[in-house]
Amino acid sequence: MSQGARIAEASGSGLGKLILCGEHAVVHGHPAIAFAVDLQTRVTLRRDDGATHVVDDGGTDPRLTEAIELALPETGWEVQIASTLPVGRGMGSSAALAVALARARAAHEGRQLDPDEVFARAMPLERVFHGNPSGLDVAVSARGGAIRYRRGPPPHIEPLTTRAAWRVVVLDTGRLGNTAELVAGVSAQRPGIDPVLARIGTLVTEAAGCLDRPGDLGPLLVENHRLLARIGVSTPELDALVVLALDAGAWGAKLSGAGGGGVVMALVDDPAPLLRAAGARGVAALECRLAPAVS
Ligand code: PMV
Repeated sequence: MSQGARIAEASGSGLGKLILCGEHAVVHGHPAIAFAVDLQTRVTLRRDDGATHVVDDGGTDPRLTEAIELALPETGWEVQIASTLPVGRGMGSSAALAVALARARAAHEGRQLDPDEVFARAMPLERVFHGNPSGLDVAVSARGGAIRYRRGPPPHIEPLTTRAAWRVVVLDTGRLGNTAELVAGVSAQRPGIDPVLARIGTLVTEAAGCLDRPGDLGPLLVENHRLLARIGVSTPELDALVVLALDAGAWGAKLSGAGGGGVVMALVDDPAPLLRAAGARGVAALECRLAPAVS
């Protein structure tokens, strides 16, 4: 890391993610596995004479203003945000924005941050959006690749390697999930649901042992989905998309992210049959590729 001259225009980006297993339980200290996907948010900063403002902003989310003020406390910034990530669908859009803001700010100072520094700077921004984030989304957005994560302090972040033994199709309900509310709703059910959270944690350890064996991994994802339904974060639409994926031959499928809407991820060996089945029912679907670890 080096301290260089301030530059007139600087940018940084953060990757989106999918959670293979362990969401919600990870907030309460259990492990989770996530991988970065090839969708991202990019922030470009320019110095300006006026008040800090976001270019082309609809201006509807006060949390965005708060996160920008935290990342850029001095006035006089023009902030441009470009994203290929769907917002509020469990694909880590707020973490990607937090990582992109932290990197762009550092780039303006002529600095390149390592992933731990990005994590430290992006977490306070992610807290503005989510209140009590586990840090999983920020960790994988900053690093790329696949990781096993356990909440800290300090967080335990272990890079995982997978051979490309499966491919991923994302099915989108088109509905927004409110992560902060869903996380609070799960917390309010403790300690009654602690055995379910513990089973999700065990399942993550089992999944880490069979990442390259989709025939073993798939059923674990389906069990994870059922457990998430038991703690109230699935919806009839998400359940129906899991059935759609399994009927089209997926190895396994589950909601990914906070739930309450958002997306289902399905593990497949060939995306074509599921993409066809989704298209026939008017369900938005896309294949997502794993984004490699940031070097
Ligand atoms: O919905 P997303 O993409 O923000 O993912 C949330 C994941 C949770 O485990 C539910 C919360 C967290 O902070 O880990």
